[in-house]
Amino acid sequence: MGIIGAGPAGLLLSRLLALQGIDSVVLENRSRDYVEARIRAGILEQHTVDTLSAVGLGDRLHREGLEHSGIYLQYPGTRHKLDFPELCGRTVWVYGQTEVVKDLIAAQLDGGPPLLFEVSDVQPEDVDTDSPRIRFTDADGNPQLLECDVIAGTDGFHGPSRTLVQESSRGRTWERTYPYAWLGILADAAPATDELIYAWHPEGFALYSMRSPKVSRLYLQVDPSEKIEDWSDERIWDALDTRFALDGWSVNRGPVTDKSILPMRSFVSAPMRRGRLFLAGDAAHIVPPTGAKGLNLAVADVTLLATALVRLLQEGRSDLVDAYSDTALRRVWRCTHFSWFMTSMLHRSGDDFDAQLQLSQLERVCSSEAAARELAENYTGLPIG
Ligand code: APR
Ligand code: PHB
Repeated sequence: MGIIGAGPAGLLLSRLLALQGIDSVVLENRSRDYVEARIRAGILEQHTVDTLSAVGLGDRLHREGLEHSGIYLQYPGTRHKLDFPELCGRTVWVYGQTEVVKDLIAAQLDGGPPLLFEVSDVQPEDVDTDSPRIRFTDADGNPQLLECDVIAGTDGFHGPSRTLVQESSRGRTWERTYPYAWLGILADAAPATDELIYAWHPEGFALYSMRSPKVSRLYLQVDPSEKIEDWSDERIWDALDTRFALDGWSVNRGPVTDKSILPMRSFVSAPMRRGRLFLAGDAAHIVPPTGAKGLNLAVADVTLLATALVRLLQEGRSDLVDAYSDTALRRVWRCTHFSWFMTSMLHRSGDDFDAQLQLSQLERVCSSEAAARELAENYTGLPIG
């Protein structure tokens, strides 16, 4: 197997296959330091935790991760807890994607399949044949050719794999760019809340998340044209105070250690296969972060793909690889809908009519067990496959 990209999708796929006796080489164009420092989302669905535990990566996750039994939905005057175990019998875990990636890299470098950082000019070739190849230049500048049985394109939104799949006649994409962005901060401040808070406010959405008992992760809805330089720490904390305001409660402030603005979009690329090249993770789809689905979808994709590839490469049966794209896309569209639903319900845009519809929907979720259960089932993760 040739695997392009050492994000969570590529690294986990390599590990799942190695445990079934299938060799792979993972090619990554960035450095190890860069990949391990990227700050991404931090909510793991139960099936993601189960998958990581099953491949021997559950120790630190269970030691340092925080199990959460719900979320708060907030709108002015109300903060309501959705209790996930009560609603659907499942929980989620707070454990940063950065930590998942560090665990995967450490395991890979400790006797796992080869993982090459800082390669360049990575190009899959002959993917319509049974002997696809990957051309690349290694970190020392030498041209290389990797001959494979199958290639996985787990190279994220900007990698070369999706382009190649889209060049085939059946290629199609769908996209929605939202008219807002998130300004995210990491702060050395104890979270002032036991569960994540998703807050609707006339001035815009805010999310209170965390990374540990001492580190908070907070987000503010901002206009996509905003410049991070215009947001002093003071201005950010003041906006957070306003949007999370609730009698007798306040946000905990502390030194801000990271600050950035993230665009929000939905994107789906189909099919997730061309010949012997299979796409998984952000290479095939992007969701806005509101539903915390990006990493979990990547894990679901590669779990399906690993099973399908084991069947192909060890038993010579192609039924599961032939079904892979359709099976994966069903879940992708469900998560795309859920992420869009959460995003649309919580972010301010449009006029007062839209605001009243959002508030009506929030009240419904906070007062109807059926509506709350629908949200909880999607948030904690639907079954894979
Ligand atoms: N050659 C080699 N590697 C590449 C290339 C290339 N031409 N282009 C991109 N890559 C690498 C990126 O540097 C990155 O490390 O592919 C990797 C893709 O990883 P991610 O972007 O993390 O995507 P994925 O593994 O699908 O993870 C899913 O969950 O929270 C979400 O969007 C978030 O990254 C996240 C994702
Ligand atoms: C995060 O902690 O980064 C996070 C949590 C929940 C989300 C998105 C991001 O919905």
